[in-house]
Amino acid sequence: MGGIERISVIGAGTMGSGIAQVCAAAGKQVTLIDTGPAQLEAARVKVQDSLRRMVKKGALTQADAEAALTRIRPAPELAAAKDAQLVIEAIFEKESIKLDTWHALESLCPPGVLFASNTSSISITKLASATQRPELFIGMHFFNPVPVMKLVEVIRGNKTSAETNRIVVELSRELGKSPVEVNDYPGFVSNRVLMPLINEAIFAVFEGVATPEAVDEVFKLGMAHPMGPLTLADFIGLDVCLDIMNVLHEGFGDPKYRPCPLLKQMVAAGKLGRKTKHGFYAYND
Ligand code: CAA
Repeated sequence: MGGIERISVIGAGTMGSGIAQVCAAAGKQVTLIDTGPAQLEAARVKVQDSLRRMVKKGALTQADAEAALTRIRPAPELAAAKDAQLVIEAIFEKESIKLDTWHALESLCPPGVLFASNTSSISITKLASATQRPELFIGMHFFNPVPVMKLVEVIRGNKTSAETNRIVVELSRELGKSPVEVNDYPGFVSNRVLMPLINEAIFAVFEGVATPEAVDEVFKLGMAHPMGPLTLADFIGLDVCLDIMNVLHEGFGDPKYRPCPLLKQMVAAGKLGRKTKHGFYAYND
């Protein structure tokens, strides 16, 4: 198979809209699919804003930004995915919903279409089992904000072929990203290491060792992290952090991955971070 020119992105949330943007900015034709019209409209505004920021700092010309926007075709139904050479799924991070979506995509898309999930921790091998093409199935894990972060964690499932891996690594470079190849075990590398750090930072607050502000200052000033772990947890979403800790806990069966009770309580209270305006910090605008 040659290069990838037509990409369908499923899910127009933060990650899906960012992925659609970087694909379009790299000259790809993108179909951005979401069943919610409000999500599609919000994604268009988000992509427009982000492109405007890039034009402002000279990373993109006005003409290239406008051309990128026209290469994103919004679509409200899953069937619109079928014309692509690659489908990237970036929907809600729940295994049963992802399995149902991949099952539907398997019957909609012709054989030969590559499948990639942007899951942050769900097993690629398991998701691939919902399809008849596990050798064409791979993990493409982008990082928020997608237009800014250089990494794509490329995850090989148990049956992912070397050719699928090669095509996706090459595509990631075309998107201006630096792919890092890993194997399919819980949390891959990124979240196997990041989430226990965040969880331990939450334990430090839970046990009264320090305030959220103090924990974050330690990491910003002592380790040059752009955001402290609790600011980052709010940015990622505390529900997402809890889901990932649960995947690690169940996947490894090791108590060192038990989610902090404070994290569980905040999620139960609906304090999910920036998206609900309350997390370890309050967000008023
Ligand atoms: N689109 C385009 N450009 C953007 C942007 C966007 N959405 N957001 C920020 N930028 C650009 C800005 O224009 C700015 O560019 P210049 O420096 O060239 O002018 C640069 O990024 C920095 O932005 P700001 O000055 O507004 O703010 P900042 O310095 O605080 O940086 C940040 C913001 C890039 C988000 C930075 O705080 C950061 O790197 N934070 C850590 C992010 C991180 O760790 N992400 C990974 C989360 S984990 C994940 O996503 C995966 C998972 O599985 C959980």
